[in-house]
Amino acid sequence: MSSCWDYGPLGVELKRNVKQAWWQAVVQKRDDMVGLDTSILMHPQVWAASGHMEGFSDPLVECKSCHLRWRADENKNDKCPDCGGELTEPRQFNLMFKTFMGPVEDEASIVYLRPETAQGIFVNFENVVNTTRKRLPFGIAQIGKSFRNEITTGNFIFRSREFEQMEIEFFVKPGTDKEWFDYWLKERLEWYKELGIKKENLRLRQHAKGELAHYARECYDIEYLFPMGWSELEGIANRGDFDLVQHANFSGKSLSYLDEESKEHIIPYIIEPSAGVDRSVLAFLYNAYDEEPDKDEIRVVLHLHPSLAPLKVAILPLSRRQPLVKLAKELYADLRQCWQAGYDDSQSIGRRYRRQDEIGTPFCVTVDFQSLDDKQVTIRERDSMKQIRVPITELSKTLTAKLNGEAFEVLPPGGSHWLGF
Ligand code: GAP
Repeated sequence: MSSCWDYGPLGVELKRNVKQAWWQAVVQKRDDMVGLDTSILMHPQVWAASGHMEGFSDPLVECKSCHLRWRADENKNDKCPDCGGELTEPRQFNLMFKTFMGPVEDEASIVYLRPETAQGIFVNFENVVNTTRKRLPFGIAQIGKSFRNEITTGNFIFRSREFEQMEIEFFVKPGTDKEWFDYWLKERLEWYKELGIKKENLRLRQHAKGELAHYARECYDIEYLFPMGWSELEGIANRGDFDLVQHANFSGKSLSYLDEESKEHIIPYIIEPSAGVDRSVLAFLYNAYDEEPDKDEIRVVLHLHPSLAPLKVAILPLSRRQPLVKLAKELYADLRQCWQAGYDDSQSIGRRYRRQDEIGTPFCVTVDFQSLDDKQVTIRERDSMKQIRVPITELSKTLTAKLNGEAFEVLPPGGSHWLGF
């Protein structure tokens, strides 16, 4: 079970924030996109139509002596890398997980866990056109779990057997597909950059002709420079009319679209930006992680984009004495209504700042004894470690502005902020 991962309390927040950022960018903020949530178990004929039944396989070899198995294309040696034994001929191994639907375990009840979310979108194309009255070009987005019985897993959450995908199927008129393909390449690359991924660690790699999947006319991978080398974060493919034609053929139901301009029935082409949630989480983590010298110590800090940070703010009372704690707890309760917030009153204030730096919390709010008199608190920013003092009545407004990217500046004397301790 080494490739099955559980996300803890902070991990789940980070992952939800990645999905939320994607959904906002590709669904909420656009007029030409809608979302779906389709089922994991689908009719087996879907996988016959998509080509997965026949072609979704990797070449598997086995050592005849120690029975170690691995993907033939990952080790070009003709001997076992472990014991030097003789190898079997490569055989194709289908990567779909099989199970049974209902109580009888026979051939007729075999179903598959979906190996991609895309097919749930294709088979709902007509439902979406009829219920939303969206006209071409428009897209459908979906986030959900996919399952692949990968022969080799590894590199932490980079390649596992149960993972999450964020997929867009963008339907366009044939002839405009090249333009939309270029559009989505740019758009998706920008998304990673806007969320802070360093541009020198991102690149586009075009698939060579022999490497293209059976459905793809053209494909690029967005790659990230992971510690193990450049590896795929997201694939962007021009799938042409392959999917709608296949599903129409297998279901016997036309999936053509009436073009209002030409009054002709056409089969839309599909541009597919397909990203991995877990791989994105991994890239955002690597990208944000830093160890900075700080006096005699090393400060570990996650420079996560505020929208991705698991906690947006942490409340740190300078003492565990009343009535300071009462005030700090009130602020904590208030801020929790807006953001995922933390509360920490153990050990020194320096230690507590470090703990929040390490999990990427953009702002800490320190409540001190002076706060009881002047009704002001100190906000400390993670990256610059600068501090400003603000009236409690302005706290939410100030945090909202700073989380939305307003510069973190200390105003000169006479301004509403001044330096904390
Ligand atoms: N519908 C097209 C499709 O599924 P893919 O390139 O096979 O294309 C898309 O997968 C994305 O899903 C990949 O770029 C990657 O981010 C993610 N992904 C694929 N297999 C994965 C695995 N075994 N573990 C984690 N993520 C995976």
